[in-house]
Amino acid sequence: MEHLLRSCLISLRLAEEIGLGERERAVVYYVALLGWIGCHADAHEQSVWFGDDVALKADRFPVDMAGAAKVSFVLRHIGAGSGLAHRAQLLGALIGLRGELANAFEATHCQIAGAVATQLGLDSMVAEGLEQVFERWDGKGSPDGLRGERIAIASRLVQLALIVEYYRRLGGVPAAVEAAVRRRGTQFDPALVDRFRATAPALLAGVDRTPGWDEVIDSEPALRPMLSGPRLDRALEAISDLADLKSPFMTGHSRGVAELACAAARRTGFSEQQVREFRRAALLHDLGRLGVSNAIWEKPGPLSSAELERVRMHPYYTLRMFSRAPALASVAELASRHTERLDGLGYPRGLNAAALSPAARLLAAADVYRALIEPRAHRPPHEPREATRLLQAEVRAGRLDGEAVQAVLGAAGQPVSRRREWPAGLTAREVEVLSLLARGSSNKAIAAQLCISAKTAGNHIEHIYMKIGASSRAEASLFAMKLGLVGGLPSSQR
Ligand SMILES: [Fe+2]
Ligand SMILES: [Fe+2]
Repeated sequence: MEHLLRSCLISLRLAEEIGLGERERAVVYYVALLGWIGCHADAHEQSVWFGDDVALKADRFPVDMAGAAKVSFVLRHIGAGSGLAHRAQLLGALIGLRGELANAFEATHCQIAGAVATQLGLDSMVAEGLEQVFERWDGKGSPDGLRGERIAIASRLVQLALIVEYYRRLGGVPAAVEAAVRRRGTQFDPALVDRFRATAPALLAGVDRTPGWDEVIDSEPALRPMLSGPRLDRALEAISDLADLKSPFMTGHSRGVAELACAAARRTGFSEQQVREFRRAALLHDLGRLGVSNAIWEKPGPLSSAELERVRMHPYYTLRMFSRAPALASVAELASRHTERLDGLGYPRGLNAAALSPAARLLAAADVYRALIEPRAHRPPHEPREATRLLQAEVRAGRLDGEAVQAVLGAAGQPVSRRREWPAGLTAREVEVLSLLARGSSNKAIAAQLCISAKTAGNHIEHIYMKIGASSRAEASLFAMKLGLVGGLPSSQR
């Protein structure tokens, strides 16, 4: 966690140390932070060839990636996690590619990172720097085999900072210096390594205390532009598209959820300001998917409990990614609730109904609907009618909010039943009775409030107990609380 933030700080300190100007230092900042965002763009292909794409990237750090070391790295990881026969088959295919596989991956990563920088409206020097993060001082890098000082200074700095930060974590300043010296003149610019060696203790001081964004930004006077309004929205769109590249199964998912969720939000009376904020959360909701391997996302069969545990982390990663930016903290909080459920059995925190705002309920419903009509590794896409049926079943099971689901289905152009679905097959009237019951009203009081006879109220209560499997008022109250039905007459407040 925060490896890039720490290496960014080291890059900036080194940039200052060698006297780079303001514009160049800003370029270093963005290249350091964005240098590896393209690395999951072909996570699908990576996992086909190498199994766990996340582990693959972590294993790269100790390898000076050229020549025999690169070949040996590829051979060690090919078909990781699969049987001998499959590995042999992949190896055959790999030989057919004549060693072009790793280069093709790196070229894609650079292209994607460069394209995102352009989409974000960053300095053209940033795109150039990003396109060269896999080039090497000795000319054995990719995609163009650039050599020496032909490689942008930002790329040279950032490569060095990335590796020294990795070794600093393992063995402090001495390990960081040793690693830099080992790759002096191969991967790294010798002059930069010398400068680093001479000033390493100061350059690495305090880095283990993970710096906050504010600290990194404050340390760099060149970083003054702020994003807000439509520019921020466009940047978040670019980032969400990038997240969806993680797997072909997710293509268009984030924008799809955002469009659907916002259309549903308008139907339930959100103001335009609320919709704008909500859309940001919807765009970002699945960014945390990047932290989980495609070997899991694209597994055609059921997941093991360990794999499920990894999946359950993805909304938490979303939260972690954005909670450091104060302007996005509330957006991240909402985004991270898209897998929470009214019955408290969602994840990652198992929040219950009381903690789930109308926006969180809408986001969850829109996410499930979109996921259902999209293909997944273990199933083809559902037809909208089937998706509608499954969504309504989630309401009856007490997991998704009925009103939110109605709004989402309406926004998706699906026929909306006039009767709202309630958990456990309760009718709207029974929910009213349950709500009053949970608040401690007697049969007589309930009857008076709803203008029915006490006998009818008693019948309702009997049916409610039967449907929800309760035998006492306490049990019924607990059920009502868990599902947020207390004081929960059909209203948009839920
Ligand atoms: Fe998700
Ligand atoms: Fe999602």
